Amino acid sequence: MNDRSERAHWTGRLGFVLAAAGSAIGLGNIWKFPYITGKNGGGAFVLVYLACITLVGLPIMMAEFLIGRQGQRDAVGSFEALEGKGSLWLLVGWGGVAASFVLLSFYAVVAGWSFDYILKSATGGLSGKTAEEINALFGELVAAPGRIVFWQFLFLAATAGIVIGGIRGGIERWSKILMPALFLLLILLFVGGMLSPGARAGLEFMFRPDFSRLTPPALLDALGHAFFTLSLGAGTMITYGSYLEPDSDLLALSVRITLLDTLVALLAGLAIFPVVFAAGLEPGSGPGLVFQTIPIVFAGLPFGSFLALIVFILLAFAALSSSISMLEVSVAYLIDEKGWRRSRATVLIGSLAFALGIPSALSFNRWSELKPLFGRTFFDLFDLLVSSYMLPLGGMFVAIYAGWFWKGGEAKNEAAALSPRPWIFPVWRFLLRFIAPAAVLFILLNQAGVWR
Ligand code: PHE
Repeated sequence: MNDRSERAHWTGRLGFVLAAAGSAIGLGNIWKFPYITGKNGGGAFVLVYLACITLVGLPIMMAEFLIGRQGQRDAVGSFEALEGKGSLWLLVGWGGVAASFVLLSFYAVVAGWSFDYILKSATGGLSGKTAEEINALFGELVAAPGRIVFWQFLFLAATAGIVIGGIRGGIERWSKILMPALFLLLILLFVGGMLSPGARAGLEFMFRPDFSRLTPPALLDALGHAFFTLSLGAGTMITYGSYLEPDSDLLALSVRITLLDTLVALLAGLAIFPVVFAAGLEPGSGPGLVFQTIPIVFAGLPFGSFLALIVFILLAFAALSSSISMLEVSVAYLIDEKGWRRSRATVLIGSLAFALGIPSALSFNRWSELKPLFGRTFFDLFDLLVSSYMLPLGGMFVAIYAGWFWKGGEAKNEAAALSPRPWIFPVWRFLLRFIAPAAVLFILLNQAGVWR
């Protein structure tokens, strides 16, 4: 199983870049990025976010690919291959498996809503409605437990269907279809945004920094989102990296993936904000921005239902190429470490994620008053646990491991294992050793309210 020649690998660079970009590009870019940018006042937040992506996210992504590629096993097994059985570093792998599993459980709930909105916009359910009626539709959807659990199930079934196909026949093949389709749709929407009367206001909102809006919570949002959007700290990029061939240039690959991810987030913002301003809506309206605002915004435009349909198909595509990467982490573990068949592992993990997701789905209706901890519903608790703690901590330990403890493994020359450009190595190691851990500690201490 651990023999390099037997293990499945990506067919080539393009397939890998699209699959890993598919993991990175998801609800985080199209649903979360615009709404937290809106909430945090635009321009200045975008600048900090870009800095976090480059100085913290990119080097950690390279480290995750490196660990996977050198280990040639799943997230746990790769640490074992590098450090030996019983090493404490295995806990970092375990943390990734747990994070991606919990994330999958509630991600599928939100992703399922996009299926419902695809149906709504395709059947004309959004046209001819007033803003209040459209707002009410979202409320009605999440208030119907049977309905959202059904969509959650369907979304997980689609995810599992792709993962069962394996690396080349499933994940890579689908990413090669989903990703270009997504780019095409986004460019269409971006052009729509730029032609709208709100284009100028939208551009200014996103790119003219107003540093007075840069509050400490905005800094935290920016750094936390860098982990989320690049799929870091969840074992995902370690697992995808393990299907890489040994001679791959990790810098070049990571730069491409990070650029694509950033491009999609910016395009999504540039598609959404102009229309938000043209329609006189509030950019900081919160998590409902996509599900509630988009149909309202498009209701007034020619071909409005069609445009709304495009947005929701896009959202579903983006979510799907991310959820497959979450499922693959646990599936790879069962295949590599326990010798399971792929289909069996996929069905088991998919079913468990479905079961764990049910309390999250019920958090919007039956159990909306049930707040087991910190006055939060199950959905909010899982989201807090994963997005605010597990991903940043996982990413930080990866940075510490790769920066301070990685000895080069089988690779004789550490610098050459990373990239043919040797000058990258000291820069990369400096960022991993000092900048990334300091940034994460800063987030976490702030979250704990240490100096509040
Ligand atoms: N990057 C994905 C998004 O932006 C989320 C994700 C996080 C996927 C962690 C895999 C692992 O939606």
